[in-house]
Amino acid sequence: MASPRSNRSHHLLLQLSSSFLLLSSLFLHAARTTAQNSSLAVRDYILLNCGAFGQLQDENNRNWMGDIGSKFGPSPSQNTLNVTAATLDNSVSQVPYKTARISRSSFTYSFPISPGRKFVRLYFYLATDFPSDSMFAVTANPGNFTLLSNFSASQTAQDLNFPYLIREFSVNVSSGSLNLTFTPAAGVPNAYAFVNGIEIVSMPNLFSSETLTIVGTSTTYTVDETTALQTMYRLNVGGNAISPVDDVDLFRSWADDNHYILSAATGVTYGQDSNVSIRYSKVPEYAAPTVVYGTARSMWNNPSISIAYNLTWLFSVDPGFLYLVRMHFCEIRYPFTKINQRVFSIYLNNQTAEPDADVIAFSGGIGCPVCRDYIVPTTGNADQQDFRVALHPYRATVPF
Ligand SMILES: *[C@@H]1O[C@H](CO)[C@@H](O)[C@H](O)[C@H]1NC(C)=O
Ligand SMILES: *[C@@H]1O[C@H](CO)[C@@H](O)[C@H](O)[C@H]1NC(C)=O
Ligand SMILES: *[C@@H]1O[C@H](CO)[C@@H](O)[C@H](O)[C@H]1NC(C)=O
Ligand SMILES: *[C@@H]1O[C@H](CO)[C@@H](O)[C@H](O)[C@H]1NC(C)=O
Ligand SMILES: *[C@@H]1O[C@H](CO)[C@@H](O)[C@H](O)[C@H]1NC(C)=O
Ligand SMILES: *[C@@H]1O[C@H](CO)[C@@H](O)[C@H](O)[C@H]1NC(C)=O
Ligand SMILES: *[C@@H]1O[C@H](CO)[C@@H](O)[C@H](O)[C@H]1NC(C)=O
Ligand SMILES: *[C@@H]1O[C@H](CO)[C@@H](O)[C@H](O)[C@H]1NC(C)=O
Ligand SMILES: *[C@@H]1O[C@H](CO)[C@@H](O)[C@H](O)[C@H]1NC(C)=O
Repeated sequence: MASPRSNRSHHLLLQLSSSFLLLSSLFLHAARTTAQNSSLAVRDYILLNCGAFGQLQDENNRNWMGDIGSKFGPSPSQNTLNVTAATLDNSVSQVPYKTARISRSSFTYSFPISPGRKFVRLYFYLATDFPSDSMFAVTANPGNFTLLSNFSASQTAQDLNFPYLIREFSVNVSSGSLNLTFTPAAGVPNAYAFVNGIEIVSMPNLFSSETLTIVGTSTTYTVDETTALQTMYRLNVGGNAISPVDDVDLFRSWADDNHYILSAATGVTYGQDSNVSIRYSKVPEYAAPTVVYGTARSMWNNPSISIAYNLTWLFSVDPGFLYLVRMHFCEIRYPFTKINQRVFSIYLNNQTAEPDADVIAFSGGIGCPVCRDYIVPTTGNADQQDFRVALHPYRATVPF
């Protein structure tokens, strides 16, 4: 799977968050209505239910438009079929997974949208009555970005032991349209391409053009408007998952971090002190919902225990890519209000990314969210490789 980095038209993105909290749904609702128009001036928001007809609602009450007869759909000359799964796994939402558009030849969706960065989310469900030889590429134009290549939804779903797959990308669209082309793999007998749902949503430049040093090297890297990214993991560290409708405007999913913690030492999770409120100043509100910053995971408060281990998250990644790791931090508990009270090292893929991170120094105070981005290279020939994110107290004498 691995090929030299320079040949890749896109880089992979790994996002992490340090914090988590459940707020009351009332609070969330208030945040949603006020923030609606603040971050995104021009907004595209398309939910296309492939292989379906008319408008249907998913379990989060989002309205999906069927692609049959839609202006986005592949033209009839492209020889595609709309198919319906005979049965659906209980854990899977009918919309958009029940139906699919499928073909043994290439087909293109064309979306007239405003220029700028978009999240493109592709939804796949491998129905048991579909043949197992799906193998295809997905490209985005303009830009000729390869979003997926030699992608086998059935194989991937099996590997992950998951009945459905969502793949999320961030691409910059420079003209007034975005074409997504699905192409069955050449040279693979009976290969076909399919898709159950396509979501396109405008996004701000989350990773603005700051020059970053590639961890473990002296080389720099800039995420600019030509960079396309794929989201690999986005975790709400410390607790529950956040569903797309609870992430205002951007409809991101945040997974619970429990499954990624190296089992030996999980540290402790905690929420904000009741007299602490989250105030955005260093990062815009769309960086992450307040629920993300409102709780966290740390090591035990006993320094002699903390110093003996690394608090570690383990991820499976494809080697050969550059990964962007975004870590979200917020001090949310007293007495951590001053610089030098809590200082820790950050190791990414066993390299020191930050010898002495100090959240108060980064953020300016308790309750102020901040995020830090790191670019991390990976090498190797294996299909999949472990990627470690590890934290360790900087000094034995100071709690973490
Ligand atoms: C956003 O602002 C535009 C223009 O002011 C307005 O037409 C639109 O209804 C607003 N959308 C929401 C969801 O508030
Ligand atoms: C394909 O779509 C048409 C039009 O909505 C519908 O009549 C037909 O049953 C669909 N075929 C399948 C296999 O779902
Ligand atoms: C990225 O988008 C901006 C407009 O938002 C455009 O000026 C620029 O040319 C685009 N770049 C690419 C490579 O698409
Ligand atoms: C997108 O597809 C449409 C229809 O197939 C085509 O006319 C147009 O040139 C394509 N645009 C790009 C940028 O590929
Ligand atoms: C698009 O990229 C593929 C490889 O990813 C390349 O073979 C092809 O020539 C490119 N097409 C254009 C128009 O640049
Ligand atoms: C896709 O897989 C086929 C068959 O396994 C292989 O021949 C081809 O080189 C692969 N293509 C890419 C782009 O990895
Ligand atoms: C906030 O509450 C915490 C714990 O309940 C307490 O230790 C701290 O002194 C309080 N801080 C302020 C500024 O009231
Ligand atoms: C923590 O991880 C770093 C980087 O992999 C390693 O050098 C260090 O020895 C680890 N520390 C402990 C206490 O395991
Ligand atoms: C990182 O260190 C661990 C042991 O601490 C090792 O198992 C793993 O292979 C290392 N990973 C890399 C990418 O060097």
